[in-house]
Amino acid sequence: MNITIVGPGAIGSLWACKLHQAGHNVSLYSRSTNKRLSIKLDNLPEISFHNNDAQRLQQTDILLITVKSWQVESALLPLLDKIDSKTILLFMHNGMGAVDDLNSQISHFPIVLATTTHGALKPYAQCVLYTGKGQTQIGAYNDLGQQCSFLADVFNHALPSAVWNSDINTALWNKLAINCAINPLTALHQCKNGALAQPQFQIEIQEIVTELVQVMKANHIQADEKSLLNTIYNVINATAENYSSMHQDIHHKRNSEIDFITGFLIKAAAKHHIELPKNRALYESIKQIENNWQSEE
Ligand code: PAF
Repeated sequence: MNITIVGPGAIGSLWACKLHQAGHNVSLYSRSTNKRLSIKLDNLPEISFHNNDAQRLQQTDILLITVKSWQVESALLPLLDKIDSKTILLFMHNGMGAVDDLNSQISHFPIVLATTTHGALKPYAQCVLYTGKGQTQIGAYNDLGQQCSFLADVFNHALPSAVWNSDINTALWNKLAINCAINPLTALHQCKNGALAQPQFQIEIQEIVTELVQVMKANHIQADEKSLLNTIYNVINATAENYSSMHQDIHHKRNSEIDFITGFLIKAAAKHHIELPKNRALYESIKQIENNWQSEE
């Protein structure tokens, strides 16, 4: 298939290499003005991809958008009049709400959402390291997207395991819950994910989860405090040596995804008049750090 990856960061680069190895015709779209970009996956020979090639973009079957949630709009809007209306838009990022914000402008395309637990790290521009095996769940966002369940086979063949989930919304809410618990705390305490297993964080994590479950239930998402806590501690332990994406963003003074993680949760809660004192405090602490840089500039 013709696949274009918009935003070859760590996860985008991992998929670019894996889909290329699986025999697909992969090209990239990125901020770089180079016509070709090379990426080396682990110790394998580097692969040279076409970058920002309008003709390849026009022929693309799948547009895999792997930019950060706050970049989705600015990355995608300029491409919309350059792609065919049958192109599948497949979004893969942390957080929720970015596609809802754009829906009125893209609803005529098949839209599919994905969430992955594969680990990838991009130590420098031309290199990506596959740091942890995970699972990818893919599911429809709109009616046209319902016809795209074959994508699970395409992605599973390239990098197992990938499954089609007819209730992707629940999967995304569960991933959101993991990110709400791990990301702000690791960014504020400047620690690895594994540090959150220490007893001093237990009460805070419990409070975050109690609030999450209230909002999930109000949104008709099945949620249970004990099993959600269990899932979160499993991720903390499985990724103990990792720095979360929000930790890395804050550390490097980049915009974080807080508006699409805890911010999304707060907006969803407000619709049901639910107060979230713990999550709101975490949200405001991260926003304050970001605002401080802006006032420094
Ligand atoms: O955002 C991240 O870093 C990841 O989604 C997760 C699961 C928290 C692991 O670091």
